Amino acid sequence: MCGIVGYIGQENAINILLNGLSALEYRGYDSAGVSIKTDKKIETVKTKGKIMDLASLIIEKKINLNGHIGIGHTRWATHGIPNTINAHPHFTDNVSIVHNGIIENYRVIENELKENSITKTTETDTETIVLLIDMFLKDMIPQKAFKKAVGKLKGSFAIAAIFKDTDTIMLARNESPLVVGISDDAVYTASDISALIEYTNKFIFLEDGDIAEITQNEIKIIDKNDKNIERGIKIIEWSKESAQKGGYKHFMIKEIAEESESVKNTIQSRIDTNGNIYLKEELEIDEDFLNNIDRITIVACGTSYYAGLTAKAVLEKYTNTIVNVEIGSEFRYSSPIFSKNNLFIAISQSGETADTKESLRFAKQSGLNTLSIVNVKESEIARMADNCIYTLAGPEISVASTKAFASQLSVLYMLAFHIGNIKGKDVKKEVQYLLEIPHIMQNTFKQTKKTTQLLAKKYHKYKNFLYLGRGIMYPIALEGALKLKEISYIHAEGYPAGEMKHGPIALIDENTPTVIVSPNKEPFYSKTISNAEEIKARNGKIILLSDKESQIADDILNLKSMDYLFSPFVYVIPLQLLAYYIALYLGHDIDQPRNLAKSVTVE
Ligand code: G6P
Repeated sequence: MCGIVGYIGQENAINILLNGLSALEYRGYDSAGVSIKTDKKIETVKTKGKIMDLASLIIEKKINLNGHIGIGHTRWATHGIPNTINAHPHFTDNVSIVHNGIIENYRVIENELKENSITKTTETDTETIVLLIDMFLKDMIPQKAFKKAVGKLKGSFAIAAIFKDTDTIMLARNESPLVVGISDDAVYTASDISALIEYTNKFIFLEDGDIAEITQNEIKIIDKNDKNIERGIKIIEWSKESAQKGGYKHFMIKEIAEESESVKNTIQSRIDTNGNIYLKEELEIDEDFLNNIDRITIVACGTSYYAGLTAKAVLEKYTNTIVNVEIGSEFRYSSPIFSKNNLFIAISQSGETADTKESLRFAKQSGLNTLSIVNVKESEIARMADNCIYTLAGPEISVASTKAFASQLSVLYMLAFHIGNIKGKDVKKEVQYLLEIPHIMQNTFKQTKKTTQLLAKKYHKYKNFLYLGRGIMYPIALEGALKLKEISYIHAEGYPAGEMKHGPIALIDENTPTVIVSPNKEPFYSKTISNAEEIKARNGKIILLSDKESQIADDILNLKSMDYLFSPFVYVIPLQLLAYYIALYLGHDIDQPRNLAKSVTVE
């Protein structure tokens, strides 16, 4: 989704802006632009396309972009098609702005502008903001004009603005993240810390309703009550290297390769060698509450939703509690039934996803005990929940989520064992097994890399795929299908294996391969193989992922036998690899697939 970068310091702003925007490319975007305050003028360059196109345009047009104050943006279209004119920054002679989010009352503002004979030239909601600021600039100084305009906005926004007549960047945020980065001789802003980790590890996180004025030496913030406020500086220890490709062709394959390491990082600091889980510090929830917990409601989107769905069985088994797993965009407009001791869990890699965030807000307003499982430090969802357990996967850059998924699973498993333990269950054996998982995952990655590549070579031209699984493997089949469609643009459907006969079987013929995910665990294995027979009888091709040989498969991807409960950690790896290699054969933009965004901050 959209990304913001801003700089005010002694260096030439353009290089820092382009660097920062490149670091935000992973979020997904369709156009990009920059505005720089040069000598008494604001220069703006923007274009449909990628940062590379923007950089080429700057060189081609030979525009003088020398200046120490600037803002940049990557746009993911919401209002108006992706083209150059709709791209940000939006500007007048006096002011230029970039904006993330959606202005819900932009038509009302548009009418107010019309009454003052001011008309828009783009289809965007954002242009109304800049025109409004410009109108107020006739009667007041930039800081006041900005504040007055922001006061009229309804919706979600993170805004950065620069002005022809002042050396400041003005910022505003409401329900859309905006951080200020601080180094010795410069101040930065961005929608996401990954844009700035090359320059600083010191950040201030603005809060809803904040308006900030930044200069090279000073940061002034006023809160939603119009009071001056100091927001603490947080140190974020993410290394620059961890957000780079490190010799891999794509972030996605690097992140699959790191998957075992991220699970290791996530669990190791929370489990000791005697198998005790230490979640108490992060989970400041009364043990009495956890002991009497009577429902767990999990809300998430996309891959995070599938992590929740996979862990449902484990949580139910160990906590003896009803577990509902809901999709964010559905949950927030439903009328859910909560119980007395209801734990609410929001899962999100980015910590920004609007549907998950608003569901969490709804849960908080309903008085629930809330927990978030988040990867991005200090992100919205992390900060909003009563408690947060971070997945320690490190930055995940590729849009298709992989290592974050396995880390989310590991937190959910730990949580299940932790609550189980409080409820009197002996979970030592399970916890010990969890500690073995990173090693098994690492071996699986090594063992299945070549085979999945060969499978991808054989199958990449097919137009439709079916993915089947039963029990704990059903959500893994869903996740496998999601990965394939996200990056290869091949239609793929995940289904519970037993449900296939109630519809999807109509799709089966020699042109629809079925990927079956089935460890050798009864009764699941035999039942799934019966479903495979039904496919075979209709000339369907079968790719089987299992630790047991079967004549029925056209291709078999042999995995090592292991404890069934933990098999999701392992079986998901070849599915991710298969999607990756198929997309590679098809020549797609793997890390930034079309139409997708890494963090979806709109509904
Ligand atoms: C987007 C991404 C998916 C991700 C989903 C949820 O759709 O493209 O990869 O799974 O959002 O994201 P979250 O950051 O909340 O886990």
